[in-house]
Amino acid sequence: MRITLIGAGAIGTLWAVKLTQAGHSVNLVTRGNASERTLSLDGTSCTLPANQTALMQQSDLWLICTKAYDIQTALLPYLPYLHRDTLVVLMHNGMGPHQWLAAQLSERQPLLLATTSHGVCRHRTGDYQHTGCGPTTIGPGNQAGHACTFVAEVFDHALPTVTWKGNIVQSLWFKLAINSVINPLTAIHGIPNGELLKLDYDPIIRELCQELANVMRAEGIHTTVTEIRQQIDTVAKATANNYSSMNRDVFYQRPTELEYITGYVLQRAAAHHISAPHHQQLYQAVKQGQRNKESS
Ligand code: PAF
Repeated sequence: MRITLIGAGAIGTLWAVKLTQAGHSVNLVTRGNASERTLSLDGTSCTLPANQTALMQQSDLWLICTKAYDIQTALLPYLPYLHRDTLVVLMHNGMGPHQWLAAQLSERQPLLLATTSHGVCRHRTGDYQHTGCGPTTIGPGNQAGHACTFVAEVFDHALPTVTWKGNIVQSLWFKLAINSVINPLTAIHGIPNGELLKLDYDPIIRELCQELANVMRAEGIHTTVTEIRQQIDTVAKATANNYSSMNRDVFYQRPTELEYITGYVLQRAAAHHISAPHHQQLYQAVKQGQRNKESS
C-alpha cells in the first residue's frame, strides 16, 4: 500500500519502520519541510520521503500518529491533499479528536480508529527502541469505515497482533482506562510502568479503577473493576521498563495528553454526574508537576 504517516514520534516511527519492512511505501509528514527523513528503530535506520504533496495525494491510506492535542494543527494544512478515496486511520492516546476529524471528512471517506499498547522509548540520540509489545485494535470511526476490515490484516502482517473490532469505541475506552491510570501515576512519581505493580500503588489504583468502571458503565461499556485492573496490570507488566509517554512529556517539559486522557474521563464523569475524585487529584497533581518543572 502507499501510506502517508503523519507524526513520526515514538509510535509513528514504530509503525513507519514496520510497515516499510513489510513492503509498503511509506512517506512522512513532519515538522519543517525536509524532503526526506531518516528514522531509527532498534538500531535499524530507514530513510523515507517526507512532506511531498504528490505522495500524499496518491496514498491509499493516511495513518495519523500525532499526539491528540496536535491533530488539528498537524492535519489542517494537508487536508487539501487528502484524496477522497484515501482511508484515514487515527492512532493516538486519549479520546476526543476523532469527532473533529469525522466532521472534516465526507461521509463516504472511510475513517478508522486504532489503539495500540506497544511501548517505544526515545533515546537522547533521537533513536527509538521498541520496548514492549502489546495488541493493536482497529475499527470503524464512521459508517464508511465498516467496509475496511482488511486494514487489520495489512497492519497485522507488519506488526502483530492487530485485530478488527466492530465496536472500536469500547477498545478506545479500555485503552483510555489504561492510560488514565499508568500515565499520570508514572508522570507524578517519576517511575517506569512496572513500578505500578508494587503493593504501594494498589490502593490508589483500586480507587481509580472503581471510578473508571462507574464512568464506563454509564457510557454503555459492560465491564468490571477486575477486568479494568487486569488490563492495566497486563500493560504495566508488558512495558515494565518503559517510561510512559506522559512521564517523558513531563520530564522533558513538553505538552502532555492529560486533557485527552484524564480530562476526557473527568468530562464524561461530569456529564453523567459521577464523582471521580481520584482522577481529579491526578489531574491536579500532573498540572502541579508541570508547573514545578517549569519554575525549577
Ligand atoms: O502512553 C504510553 O506510554 C503507552 O500508551 C502505554 C501503553 C501506557 C505504555 O507506556
